Amino acid sequence: MARIITSEGKDVTDFATIRNRLARLGITLNAWSAPAGARAQELLAKQSLADAEKEELLGSVEQRFEQLKREKGYQTRDMIVIHEGIPNLKEMLAKFEKIHYHTDDEVRYILAGRGYFGFVEPDGGQFLLEVSAGDYINVPANTEHWFEMRDSKRIKAVRYFIDTSGWTPVYTERSMAAFA
Ligand SMILES: [Fe+2]
Repeated sequence: MARIITSEGKDVTDFATIRNRLARLGITLNAWSAPAGARAQELLAKQSLADAEKEELLGSVEQRFEQLKREKGYQTRDMIVIHEGIPNLKEMLAKFEKIHYHTDDEVRYILAGRGYFGFVEPDGGQFLLEVSAGDYINVPANTEHWFEMRDSKRIKAVRYFIDTSGWTPVYTERSMAAFA
């Protein structure tokens, strides 16, 4: 369940409040329960997943993709699995830890683990959004943000794309607020 962490160190946990604050930036947050079946749970608990296992999990949430295709025009989906055993993890994460935007929407449906998006408000203020299992988030194209793992070691999420070439980060060079 999503949580906002402000640069003053305050936590916001009320879902409706979080949703409204994100909506002001054009960002959609939905609570979509993660797959609960025994096999899905077994896969979600693993550190890493083989391609066939990723497909199996994607299959268990395929109705979400069908809905997004119909309603939002998304074309493809895949599964990103981040864990402490990835050899070039630091380099991989470094690309997204600076403020950037994309020319495609950044859409994530978190199935397990935890990660942190950072957002910039119209007055220049910044906050972190912790996302975890059951959070669906759509960060529209051209919205400044970043992503980091902080103290989290693992996350498993479905990514939805209209155009995968639009997913390259464009850095804005804005400096980031400090978070405790
Ligand atoms: Fe991004």
